[in-house]
Amino acid sequence: MKGIILAGGSGTRLHPITLAVSKQLLPVGDKPMVYYPLSVLMLAGIRDILLISTPMDLPHFRRLLGDGAHLGLRIDYAEQAEPNGLAEAFVIGADHVGDDSVTLVLGDNIFHGPAFSEVLARNTRDVRGCVLFGYPVHDPERYGVGEKDAHGNLVSIEEKPARPRSNIAITGLYIYDNAVVDIAKNLRPSARGELEITDINQRYLEHGRAKLVDLGRGFAWLDTGTPESLLLAGQYVQTLENRQGVRIACVEEVALRMGFITAHECYALGERLANSNYGQYIMTIAKELAAV
Ligand code: G1P
Repeated sequence: MKGIILAGGSGTRLHPITLAVSKQLLPVGDKPMVYYPLSVLMLAGIRDILLISTPMDLPHFRRLLGDGAHLGLRIDYAEQAEPNGLAEAFVIGADHVGDDSVTLVLGDNIFHGPAFSEVLARNTRDVRGCVLFGYPVHDPERYGVGEKDAHGNLVSIEEKPARPRSNIAITGLYIYDNAVVDIAKNLRPSARGELEITDINQRYLEHGRAKLVDLGRGFAWLDTGTPESLLLAGQYVQTLENRQGVRIACVEEVALRMGFITAHECYALGERLANSNYGQYIMTIAKELAAV
């Protein structure tokens, strides 16, 4: 299983904040936004990751994450020169995917919930067709909207419909078998001139090969698209982290817990950031886990 993080776009709803800085590098709580989707892929056990962004922003992601080796990962980078749509990720990433299956996560999507790693493990094993994740929202017309039958099969999907058939938004986490690459290469741009991920999902649906997994109301899928929602996402993270004393999407901790790096290596990563509480946290976790 390969991973792709798509961190393109120009974040116009966040202007002027995103005039000079990529949206996916803005802080959510005490860490850059991209740590959240990256930790989702890591929790799924995915170590071979392609990060796609704009030519202007790519150097900054590279500076933040390097080749990923410090986290026990391999991170490669590719440019999306124009905002041609989410589905273009599979055209740009065709060589990266090779003959493997692939999980795509959008660089601005934040997921947090109980037993999420088990949900991911279950759905990334032996992938046939595609697996989408649905989440109830009060404003489904802003998203891809899906419906499923009693067996969890996707039965309808529409992109930003004026009259949504359900309140289930399709989140920015998509798991596909290898057929996605050919489907993406043969897509036609939509009316708004983009290669739509919803059109890929529609193809899988037509072949009866699309599943929709409900994340449910006990789960948090947070928006970061506007100044207000970005702030609220940060407050959510801060509230939980302060209360529980554990961090969400601390990629160094995830790497250690997943067995991608040793406690010794993890401690050294914390030391490099020791002036911040985040760095101190990594050192504490590494010491704790080394002792057990
Ligand atoms: C995209 C997808 C949409 C999905 C959403 C999730 O929309 O097109 O189907 O529900 O991501 O974040 P966008 O955010 O690009 O408008």
